[in-house]
Amino acid sequence: MSIHKESFKRVTTHILSEMKLKGEKIAMLTSYDFSMASIVDKAGVDVILVGDSASNVMAGHETTLPITLDQMIYHGASVVRAVNRALVVVDLPFGTYQGNSKEALCSSIRIMKECSADAVKLEGGREILESVNRILSAGIPVMGHLGLTPQSIHKFGTYAVRAKEEEEATKLLEDAKMLEEAGCFALVLEKIPASLATKVAESLTIPVIGIGAGGGVDGQVLVAHDMLGITQEFSPRFLRRYHNLFAEMKGAVENYIEDVKSKDFPSEREQY
Ligand code: KIV
Repeated sequence: MSIHKESFKRVTTHILSEMKLKGEKIAMLTSYDFSMASIVDKAGVDVILVGDSASNVMAGHETTLPITLDQMIYHGASVVRAVNRALVVVDLPFGTYQGNSKEALCSSIRIMKECSADAVKLEGGREILESVNRILSAGIPVMGHLGLTPQSIHKFGTYAVRAKEEEEATKLLEDAKMLEEAGCFALVLEKIPASLATKVAESLTIPVIGIGAGGGVDGQVLVAHDMLGITQEFSPRFLRRYHNLFAEMKGAVENYIEDVKSKDFPSEREQY
């Protein structure tokens, strides 16, 4: 029996940089489980992010801080089992890379070994550069993440747009260049002014993928549960909802309850 599951051409970090060169936009979405990842991959998304937003979406926490490395590995491995084509990136959760670069490397190695992921993502710039370098030196591809970095929510105190002032914008551009020079293969920019995101994308050769960062970047990422309308409360300006799955699923469950109570289900044909 073959151990190769794909008949598709897999997306690699090299393919993503070619896409930037050709001006072809990169489509990235989150997934945290086998069933969702299977749909997202079959639809043809280029990158699947096993985001630590699983902490909010899957576990119902208010922030991304509580999710553990073991939990991220469970989500990552579930996603990888479903994927034939997309590049799979797994977030390093809060507290597993900020302490020191050795810990960052050990966390990344666990993700690569136990999930069979393609890459890891870390939040931050110069503060985590030593960790980024150490992970990269082990041959693990790294995606950066600047702008609104939800793991630092208690420092920011708000989920408002970042880098509106010149000082923070200058630091963000410098950090982006540092991450590129270190060898990151791509960068996520979250919730920053579109003009700044465009400037960063034009200044870097690696793909820049935005969420709430306008259309001048090399690709877009959204949380799948948000764009499908499964989550309800989260409604930032940058979010385009493609469906109202919450209402559709709720309606289906209500129909099922009604059918059970009225003894309509199961019918003669639905039993043995
Ligand atoms: O965890 C996540 O889903 C993310 C995206 C919002 C980029 O980091």
